[in-house]
Amino acid sequence: MSPPNGHKSLWLVLLFGMGVMAKSLNCPAKCTCQYLEVNCTGQQLQDFPMTIPLDTRQLILATNNISYLPSVELNFLSDLVYLDCRENAISEDLDFAFISLNKLIYLDLSFNNLTRVTFTTFSQLSSLVVLKISDNPNLVEIEKDSFANNTWLRHLDVSRTGLTFLDISIVKDLPNLKSLGLSENLWNCNCSFLEFTLWMKESGVRFPDPENISCYSPAALHGWSMPGVESKLHYTCLLHLHDTDYAFLGLIGFCIFSAGTVAAWLAGMCVALYEFHTTRGGDDEDEDEDEEATT
Ligand SMILES: *[C@@H]1O[C@H](CO)[C@@H](O)[C@H](O)[C@H]1NC(C)=O
Ligand SMILES: *[C@@H]1O[C@H](CO)[C@@H](O)[C@H](O)[C@H]1NC(C)=O
Ligand SMILES: *[C@@H]1O[C@H](CO)[C@@H](O)[C@H](O)[C@H]1NC(C)=O
Ligand SMILES: *[C@@H]1O[C@H](CO)[C@@H](O)[C@H](O)[C@H]1NC(C)=O
Ligand SMILES: *[C@@H]1O[C@H](CO)[C@@H](O)[C@H](O)[C@H]1NC(C)=O
Ligand SMILES: *[C@@H]1O[C@H](CO)[C@@H](O)[C@H](O)[C@H]1NC(C)=O
Repeated sequence: MSPPNGHKSLWLVLLFGMGVMAKSLNCPAKCTCQYLEVNCTGQQLQDFPMTIPLDTRQLILATNNISYLPSVELNFLSDLVYLDCRENAISEDLDFAFISLNKLIYLDLSFNNLTRVTFTTFSQLSSLVVLKISDNPNLVEIEKDSFANNTWLRHLDVSRTGLTFLDISIVKDLPNLKSLGLSENLWNCNCSFLEFTLWMKESGVRFPDPENISCYSPAALHGWSMPGVESKLHYTCLLHLHDTDYAFLGLIGFCIFSAGTVAAWLAGMCVALYEFHTTRGGDDEDEDEDEEATT
């Protein structure tokens, strides 16, 4: 290889490298980019921006009109630590949206149109510390094991959603949970909630806006604050237990009574039959004696 040729290929490599760098440093239209942060707040974006630098750590898409998070493009951003998607129109199933964002610590999906959270939704976000899914009025279900893999979770907010019930196992096994937003939901304080209200009293977790955490149904408990309703629930739900106990005891009593009656009746029958037989036997003997006497 002659020296000029070597120089040529070196230049090519340099040019190519600069091209790649220029491309990866491209900032999406309408966004500002600096220090690994991309900020696209309030730009009326309809879609997820496509040319986000791959080394981005902090991505802010707040206050737009994005309805869909494309799994492939989002998961190229594997260094992402902070993702803010508040105030958008995200409603789609998020089950494959976050599969390689395992460095993500902060995720804000509040003020969207989420409907359901399942185990797969956040299961790959193993570093997650803050999760905000409040103000999703159509969010009606969080499955039991939804946060089973998010053991670092410290702050969780599910305020102002369509939830009426939260299974105790969703939060009980989060070892680092410090704050749980529950306010202004239409909680259904039935006996299934007893364990949850007990946990609220004893867990040491902080509940922001405690004055706005209250029961919506059943009608008898409407407006009762949580966890204050715990004593009332305890009483009601234990009384229910007493009712079934009474029914059970009544049934047992009735069984014993019937069995006794039947046994007494049978015993009476036996005695009557025995007496009948023995008296008839006596008559026979008398007859025999009479016969003997006549001969
Ligand atoms: C993002 O930009 C908006 C307005 O353009 C600004 O108000 C906000 O503070 C910025 N956020 C960050 C984290 O820099
Ligand atoms: C948001 O997007 C929907 C369609 O996806 C459109 O109908 C609506 O006008 C948009 N809203 C704003 C504020 O751009
Ligand atoms: C939210 O999603 C539901 C369907 O899941 C849809 O009917 C409704 O129009 C959506 N609302 C908004 C504001 O996008
Ligand atoms: C739970 O998180 C770990 C990473 O800590 C990941 O390897 C694993 O696949 C996750 N489990 C499931 C079922 O997603
Ligand atoms: C309590 O209400 C929730 C939903 O509102 C329901 O899933 C659960 O089965 C109810 N439990 C009882 C004991 O009725
Ligand atoms: C409680 O709810 C009311 C009405 O829904 C609201 O005006 C008030 O600001 C809430 N309080 C707190 C501390 O969020």
